[in-house]
Amino acid sequence: MDKMSLNDIRRSFLDFFASKEHYVGKSYSLVPENDKSLLLINSGMAPLKPFFMGIDTPPKKRMATCQKCIRTGDIENVGKTARHGTFFEMLGNFSFGDYFKIESIQWGWEYVTEHLKMPVEKLWVSVYEQDDDAYEIWNKKIGVPSEKIVRLGKADNFWEIGLGPCGPCSEIYFDRGEKYGCGHADCKPGCDCDRYVEFWNHVFTQFDRDEQGNYNPLPKPNIDTGMGLERVACIMQGVDSIFEIDTMQQILEGVTTLSKQKYGANPKMDISIRIITDHIRSVTFMVSDGIMPSNEGRGYVLRRLLRRAAKHGKQLGIQDTFLTTLVDRVIGVSGQAYPELVEKQEYIKKVIAVEEDRFRETIDQGSEILKSFVEELRKTQSICLSGENAFKLYDTYGFPLELTKEILEEEGFEIDETGFKEEMEKQRVRARSARQNTEDEGWKEDIFSKLGADIRSAFEGYGNTQTEGNILTIMKNGEVVETATQNDELILILDRTPFYPEGGGQIGDKGFMENETVKVQITDCKKGNNERILHYGKVLEGTLSVNTQIKAIVEEKHRKSTARNHTATHLLHKALKEIVGQHVEQAGSYVTPDRLRFDFSHFQALTTEELDRIEALINEKILMGLDVKAQNMSLEEAKRLGATALFGEKYGNTVRVVSINGYSIELCGGTHIENIGQIGLFKIVSEGGVAAGIRRIEAVTGLKAYEYIKEKEAKLNELSKLLKTNEKELVHKTEALIQELKGIQKEIETLKLKLASSSIDEILEKAYKINELKIVAHKLEGLDMDSLRNLADKVRDRIGSGVVVLGTVEQEKVNFVAMATDEAVKQGVHAGNIIKEVAKIAGGGGGGRPNMAQAGAKDPAKLEEALAKVEELVKSQLK
Ligand code: ALA
Repeated sequence: MDKMSLNDIRRSFLDFFASKEHYVGKSYSLVPENDKSLLLINSGMAPLKPFFMGIDTPPKKRMATCQKCIRTGDIENVGKTARHGTFFEMLGNFSFGDYFKIESIQWGWEYVTEHLKMPVEKLWVSVYEQDDDAYEIWNKKIGVPSEKIVRLGKADNFWEIGLGPCGPCSEIYFDRGEKYGCGHADCKPGCDCDRYVEFWNHVFTQFDRDEQGNYNPLPKPNIDTGMGLERVACIMQGVDSIFEIDTMQQILEGVTTLSKQKYGANPKMDISIRIITDHIRSVTFMVSDGIMPSNEGRGYVLRRLLRRAAKHGKQLGIQDTFLTTLVDRVIGVSGQAYPELVEKQEYIKKVIAVEEDRFRETIDQGSEILKSFVEELRKTQSICLSGENAFKLYDTYGFPLELTKEILEEEGFEIDETGFKEEMEKQRVRARSARQNTEDEGWKEDIFSKLGADIRSAFEGYGNTQTEGNILTIMKNGEVVETATQNDELILILDRTPFYPEGGGQIGDKGFMENETVKVQITDCKKGNNERILHYGKVLEGTLSVNTQIKAIVEEKHRKSTARNHTATHLLHKALKEIVGQHVEQAGSYVTPDRLRFDFSHFQALTTEELDRIEALINEKILMGLDVKAQNMSLEEAKRLGATALFGEKYGNTVRVVSINGYSIELCGGTHIENIGQIGLFKIVSEGGVAAGIRRIEAVTGLKAYEYIKEKEAKLNELSKLLKTNEKELVHKTEALIQELKGIQKEIETLKLKLASSSIDEILEKAYKINELKIVAHKLEGLDMDSLRNLADKVRDRIGSGVVVLGTVEQEKVNFVAMATDEAVKQGVHAGNIIKEVAKIAGGGGGGRPNMAQAGAKDPAKLEEALAKVEELVKSQLK
C-alpha cells in the first residue's frame, strides 16, 4: 500500500468513478438549498436528496462527488479525540435508479484493492443482518471469506438521517492490527475498540422515511456511498489521528509556529492546538460559501467556531489576532480542489479579521462586566457567581465560560455550575422549539413533488412578453384540478411561458393569460422544482381547462421598470467595486419595478462622498448609452471573460452572461433593458447596515427617480412658502432664522437669571448655619446649567463663608450646582462629594472639585429630598 496524500486520494477517487461513467460534480455549497431540515450540509448525499426522491433530475444517473461537510454535533469532543472534527470531506458515488448493490460493491472493492492498494487481508466488511443479497455478493462474487463478513443490526447497518431516503448499508473496514484491539477473542467489526476502522459506507437507498415513521419503497432503488476523506487518508498514511495527515499537519504547524508551542509536549495545549486546526477549516469554508457570522442559524455556528478558535489561541498565549494567517494555510492545502477559496481569499480573510477583532472587544467588554459582578460579590460577601449571571455573560456577551471560571478562580470566587446548566437547558429548549418550527415547513411537503417528470416549462421571455402555451397543470387549494372558473385562485403551469419566475433577486412577472373561453390575471410567478414555472393568479372570467392553449401576456410596464432596475443593479455592483474596493461582494439583491436593493460586503458605512461618486459614475455611464447583451456560454468561457459570479450559487455548465458593453459582465438569468440609456436617471435613496459586515443600498431609476426628485422639489417649495422666501434664499433664510432663535433663547436665559437674581435676598433669608458656616440649599425653576452656575457664584459671594447648593428642573431633567467658600473647604467641606450624594438621590451622578461641582439627575420629584440631605452631608464632612 503506497502512502498517498489527501489531495491525491481525492483525485484518484473521482477519476476512478469518472472511468465508470459517473458525472463528477463539484462539491455543493455548505449551505443547503431548499432544505429547511438542515442547517449545514453534513454528508455527500444531503444536497442530492431531490435526485433520490425523483423531485429533480440529476445531470446524469451516476454521479460522484467530494462534498464539503460540517457536523457540529460532537463539537465538545473535537480536539479531545483523534478522529473528531467539525469539517470533513466525504467522497461518494451515487446511483439514481441506475446501478445497485452488485456494481456498488464491486467497484468499491476494485477501488480499495486495486487503486488504494489496501492489502486484502486487512479488509473486513459488514452487512445489515437481514440483507442476504449483500452477503452473497461479498461472499460469492467478490470472494470475501464468510468469517470476514459481519452481520450487524439496525443501529450499525441501516442508514438514515431524519426523514427522506434511507436503507440498509454495508461497510468496509480496515484492520489496524492487534495493538489497537481490546484483546477479546471475538473482537471484530462492530466492536467498540479502535482496531477495525469503518471507512466506506455503501447505502442501498431503497426507502423514503416519512413523518409517521413509515418506510415507503422508493420508485427505484439507489446507491449512496460515503467515505470520509480524512479517515481514509489516516489509513493510507499510516497515522493514528486525523491531525497527523499531510494537509492537517500543514495547518497544525501554523498553530504551533504562531503560539511557539510544541505539539505533543502538553496534553492541555494539544487540545487547543487541535481545536484551532479543525475549526479554522470549517470557518474558512463557511465564509467562502457566503455565510456571515451572526447570532442565529448557520451564522451562529460560524461565529461560535471562530470565537472558539480565537479563544484557544489566547489560551495558547498568542497575543495578536492570528486566524487569517491560518486561513492562508487552509487555502494553501485545499485551494487546488476548491478554487473558490483562492478566488475569495482576500474576502474570507477580511470577514474573519473583522469577527476576530470584534471578539477581542467582546472579551474586553465581558471582562468589564465580570469585574462589576466581582465587585458585587465582594459587597454582598458571597463567593459564588449565580448561574444566571454566568449564563448572561456567556450568552448575551459571548464571553466564554472557561474564561469566566478562570478569572473568578484567580480572584477566589466560583460559579454556580448547576444554575448555569439550568439556564443552558432552558436555552436549549427554546432553540429546539425554534428549530421544530422551521422543520415543520420541510421541503418534502412540496405538493409539486407528486407531479410527473414531463410537467416542465420552457422560459421564452427574454426579449419577449407574449407567447402561446399549453396548460399542463392547474392547481387549486393545493390540489391538481382539471378546470377552474371565475374567482378561483390558482397556480398554473404551462409548457412555455414568457413570464419571468422570481429568481436571482428579480421579482416575478405580472400580467394576463387569455383565450376564447377565459381570462386569468397573473399576480406573481415563481420557480418550481424540476424546471417548472408557477404562475399565481385568479380567474377573472370564463372557464379554464387543462390541456388547452392559452396566450400568456406579461405586463410590459412592470417588466420594463424591473429590467431597468436590474441593469442598474449590475452598474451599481461594478461601481461599488471600483469606488469602494474589490472586496465588495454581492450578498443579496431585490429588484422590483419600484426600486432596487443591493446588499454587499463592506465593513463600514459609506461616506457621503463615496455615495456621490458612485451615483455620479453610474449616471455618467448611463449617458454613454452602452448596449446590454446576453449570451449563453460555457462557465469556463464566462470565467475567462472575467464575469462576476455569486457566492454559493449553483451554475450549470452553460451559463447566461449579461454584459454592459465594455463595463460590466455578470452571470445572470434576469431580464434586462437593451441599452443602459433606458435607465434614464439613477438615484440612491438610502445606505445602511443590515448585518455585521453587510451594507445595503437602495436606489430608484427611470420615472421613479424622476418622481423622487419631484417629491424633493415639492418639499423645497413647501418650505420656501413656509419661510416666505424662494428656493435660492432658502438656506440663507434658514440660517438667519436659527441665529435669531439662538438669540431669543439667550435672551430668555438672561431674563430668567435676572428674575432669579432678584430673589437672591429671598434665598439668603432661607440660609441656615452650621457652626460658623452659612448653608444655602435651594430649589429654583427652569434654569440651564450656565445660569445656575452664574447664580450660585453670586450667592456664594454674598454669604461670606459657607456652602451653596442649588437645584433646578429644566426640560424634565434635574441640574445641580454646589459651591464651597475657601473657609468651608478649609474646614473639610468637599462640594464634589456633596453633589455626588445629592444627585444620587435624584437618580443621577456627578462630582467635581472641593470648591465647585455640578451634576445632572433624572428624577425631578426627588429634587427637594435631595437638597434636604445637604445639611447632614456638610455636618459629616466638618473636621
Ligand atoms: N450517506 C452515507 C453516510 O453519510 C453514505 O454515511
